[in-house]
Amino acid sequence: MKLDFDAKELRVYEKEEIFKIHPLWIRERSTEKGEVDQNSFQRLYDPEKIKPDLQIKNAQLLADNKMHVEFSDNHSATYCLDKLITEITRSNVLPPKIYWDKNDAELKKFSFAYGANESRQLFEILKFYHQYGYVVVEDLPAKDGEVIKFAEKIGFIRETNFGKLFNVRSQKQPNDLAYTSIELESHTDNPYRKPVPSIQFLFCIENSCKGGDSTVVDGFKVAEDLKKENPQAFNILVNTLINYKFEDNDAILEKTGKIIKLSARGELKQIKYSNRLDFVFYDEPKVLEEFYAAKRVMHQMINSDKYILQFHLQPGNLLIMNNYRTLHGRRSYNTSEGSRWLQGLYIDHDSAESKYKLLSKEVE
Ligand code: OGA
Ligand code: ZN
Repeated sequence: MKLDFDAKELRVYEKEEIFKIHPLWIRERSTEKGEVDQNSFQRLYDPEKIKPDLQIKNAQLLADNKMHVEFSDNHSATYCLDKLITEITRSNVLPPKIYWDKNDAELKKFSFAYGANESRQLFEILKFYHQYGYVVVEDLPAKDGEVIKFAEKIGFIRETNFGKLFNVRSQKQPNDLAYTSIELESHTDNPYRKPVPSIQFLFCIENSCKGGDSTVVDGFKVAEDLKKENPQAFNILVNTLINYKFEDNDAILEKTGKIIKLSARGELKQIKYSNRLDFVFYDEPKVLEEFYAAKRVMHQMINSDKYILQFHLQPGNLLIMNNYRTLHGRRSYNTSEGSRWLQGLYIDHDSAESKYKLLSKEVE
């Protein structure tokens, strides 16, 4: 690593790259006493303290990949260069996402036992989950409420109008198609909520009916392929505003959004797809025709064998999915023989990410 500077710019040379750093940006990262609280590392001063014409007076490399910088306001600070470069390159401490279709998917189940060694087991579960957007855990006690006990090891439960947990069973007068025995095609859950639930847990207590296999699809892989194969359809799904809606006697829930949401940097951020809950806004016939054609392409892809990973959940199996990336569904089942009972709930992304980061410090 090499370093040089002038009054208005600090340059760090790392391998083939040059990172050009603004004086205000690096000044703001000082963790010296008086600048940030030494326990929480939260900033103690307000932005007016640092003048816009701040300059770099001196900068030098120290041992252990550290750097010392002196500023024109008489402040000087020591920085850890690895940490700065991680922040500049936005390298994530979460494991990188691995996109998959049916051909590269393996149904790996992770056994879990309460007690000693929980951290290592949870770490492996959350690592796979962050890479693939879903994970199956096995060997949990197939009991009512067990899913809450397990989920609370990872994060806080997001309660909804369906309760802290919801029972997925065939009912006589269901307020949702999930509570019937018909097939559910690939979908993401609850696109009508603000915010949309982040992570879905589906825990199997009974599953002896004929049928009722679970399905999962990597929505980001589908979106990536769609962009290559049919960029026009991809752009329409990125840009068309949809109203997602749920209504029963106790709740009217609506959210507007796009089927494929991109970040400001153009990365895939979220898939919201539920063919039973989406209503495109009123528009010109030509616009609508193009939208329906694009939606048909996506619908066909997410329900095709090329992308679907299908398996039968056994009692004590738990399926965890990133509801912003992974679509899920189930095959129809026959209630005349056997029984099928799943319990579901939602937690937020931040808690699962935080748990993974804490565990990686603990076990690695
Ligand atoms: C759901 C759902 C799938 C199943 O409840 O959201 O998609 O296997 N259920 O019953
Ligand atoms: Zn669902």
